[in-house]
Amino acid sequence: MKVTVVGAGAVGATCAENIARKQLAEELVLLDIVEGFAEGKAMDMNQCATLNGFDTKITGSTNDYSKTAGSSVAVITSGIPRKPGMTREELIGTNAGIVKTVTENLLKHSPDVILVVVSNPMDTMTYLSVKSSGLPKERVIGMGGILDSSRFKYRLSEAIGCSPNDLQGVVIGGHGDTTMIPLIGHATYNSTPVTNFLSEEQQESVVKETMVGGATLTKLLGTSAWYAPGAAGAYLVESIVRDQKKLFPCCVYLDGEYGQSDICIGVPVVVGRNGWEKIVDYDLSSEEQEKFNASAGAVRKMNAVLEEMKLI
Ligand code: LAC
Repeated sequence: MKVTVVGAGAVGATCAENIARKQLAEELVLLDIVEGFAEGKAMDMNQCATLNGFDTKITGSTNDYSKTAGSSVAVITSGIPRKPGMTREELIGTNAGIVKTVTENLLKHSPDVILVVVSNPMDTMTYLSVKSSGLPKERVIGMGGILDSSRFKYRLSEAIGCSPNDLQGVVIGGHGDTTMIPLIGHATYNSTPVTNFLSEEQQESVVKETMVGGATLTKLLGTSAWYAPGAAGAYLVESIVRDQKKLFPCCVYLDGEYGQSDICIGVPVVVGRNGWEKIVDYDLSSEEQEKFNASAGAVRKMNAVLEEMKLI
């Protein structure tokens, strides 16, 4: 199995390191546009092989896509990250052109690849990848919901005072500060609704903190987060390469599901060797569905910018 990670910045490198540590690929290519940067990161990571006990061979590449040839999965992390006070949506002007070029270059050398899109604004970048790759919709997956759900479980665990690993919870909708929808009414603490353990006020606070999870970190770090985004990317790659059929929210192209069409947005999907294999229909309340529709409206507005930029 060969996996490529495009973008050797903090998120891409963390994702690559997790892929190597978990032995998800025999060959891993890390590509970046900055001369020597991916080669340096790859060498540094290869020197961890005996320390962390992995055999994955990591190759760095300065923008030479021929090295990525024959990849089964490619993770796109390219583009600029957020600065404090910025929304993910403000990145579109710079990142859209980059993501389109990266998608096209990957496809030239790996026509059957499964694309995992991490770059922001993630929902719109996933939509752009679907449109510019010509791949079957099942082979393009945006990683946003896994990260947001992990942050949701972190916040829930803090509020309840329990292990995050005892919690089930998902965040659907867009991967934006105001567009994501943490489904607190569906979340459980070992099969018991979390709402049994939290006051209304605590529930509201968990939802609010989850939604601004990325922005909180950007403020603290001066740039966007990388440990959880990188780990979430590798978690998604794992479900593909190990054909795990895990069920988690991802950003995928909808064709009428959840009442939306011609849009990529976060919904619960089963992920395996063929990409996303099934959209699972959660029983949304009318209030949740309304929120989902509003979220789709905001994502659609962002997608319109792609047309203005003549990228689709
Ligand atoms: C975040 C960025 C990576 O949520 O979208 O941290």
